[in-house]
Amino acid sequence: MDDLLSLRQSFLDEISAVSEIAELQQLKVRYTGRKGLITGRLKALSTVPPEEKPAFGRAVNELRDFVEQSIEDTETELRKVEKQKRLLSEKIDITLPGRPLKAGNIHPLNRILDEIKDIFVFLGFNIEEGPEIELDYYNFEALNIPKHHPARDMQDTFYITDDVVLRTHTSPVQVRVMEKKRPPLRIIAPGKVYRCDADISHTPMFHQVEGLLVDDDISFSDLKGVIELFIHSFFGKDTPVRFRPSYFPFTEPSAEVDIGCIFCRGKGCRICKKTGWLEVMGCGMVNPRVFEMSGYGPDEFSGFAFGMGVERLTMLKYSIDDIRLFYENDLRFLMQF
Ligand code: DAH
Repeated sequence: MDDLLSLRQSFLDEISAVSEIAELQQLKVRYTGRKGLITGRLKALSTVPPEEKPAFGRAVNELRDFVEQSIEDTETELRKVEKQKRLLSEKIDITLPGRPLKAGNIHPLNRILDEIKDIFVFLGFNIEEGPEIELDYYNFEALNIPKHHPARDMQDTFYITDDVVLRTHTSPVQVRVMEKKRPPLRIIAPGKVYRCDADISHTPMFHQVEGLLVDDDISFSDLKGVIELFIHSFFGKDTPVRFRPSYFPFTEPSAEVDIGCIFCRGKGCRICKKTGWLEVMGCGMVNPRVFEMSGYGPDEFSGFAFGMGVERLTMLKYSIDDIRLFYENDLRFLMQF
């Protein structure tokens, strides 16, 4: 009996020192396992005198129940502590403000392209497209610019083969549309164009919007009306507009459209080179030669055409002084629009 008492005491000493589940597991094996201390005492029952057997047996059983219960209680306790520790270490501070995702925005050129399209769609124009890799025929010849015409020097062309170029303007779409459709025609053709040129006002790729209106009895005053309406919607009602005689092989007569300088209000500044005027597009009455090349009779219809540079219009509208900013993808620039 004394032996059982001291066994109970040493168990109590040991279990009070346990701080981890693994240690507890070892303790359990050592006391109640198949070759454990308590199991050993039960086996020793045979050596106990018969009259003491019942009491001894009861005492050993009681000690085993006590040990098992203590181990179970301690395990529950240890698991609780471990869980608590884990929860503390995995704590998330939900009071930290989140990191916002940067939302993209529309590129300034696309914004202006949309604005231009909206104005012409409002006037009943349809949007047409043509290929950026274009036949020399559509880019030059059908527009009355023959092979050795000096007007070809005006455009630094990227040639792919002798007959294939990267289109240098959107004007070839005029011919492609007229080949397929009969008047009345009211179309604009926005898109990329290419010229071998690079400085603060030129990039090798840029955007134009071409316009073409063909019908019976179209006159220069129709052209003036449409262009003025466009300029006033785009730059504001009070913007002065003037038509200055010019030359393009595919229009006759031809004109450049100028607007009163929006920076100095016509007084003369660095941007308008002291003239008070800014050039914004080319236009004219469709040359009968172009009608013929497109399959119309030279006197069958009349019409006008115009072409504008999207980068230039965007630079004027937002006072941007370097065209390269559009293509550098600097977010400090792009996020301003
Ligand atoms: N294609 C000309 C250019 O790229 C612009 C242009 C001028 C287009 C007059 C036209 C026009 O349709 O009538 O410089």
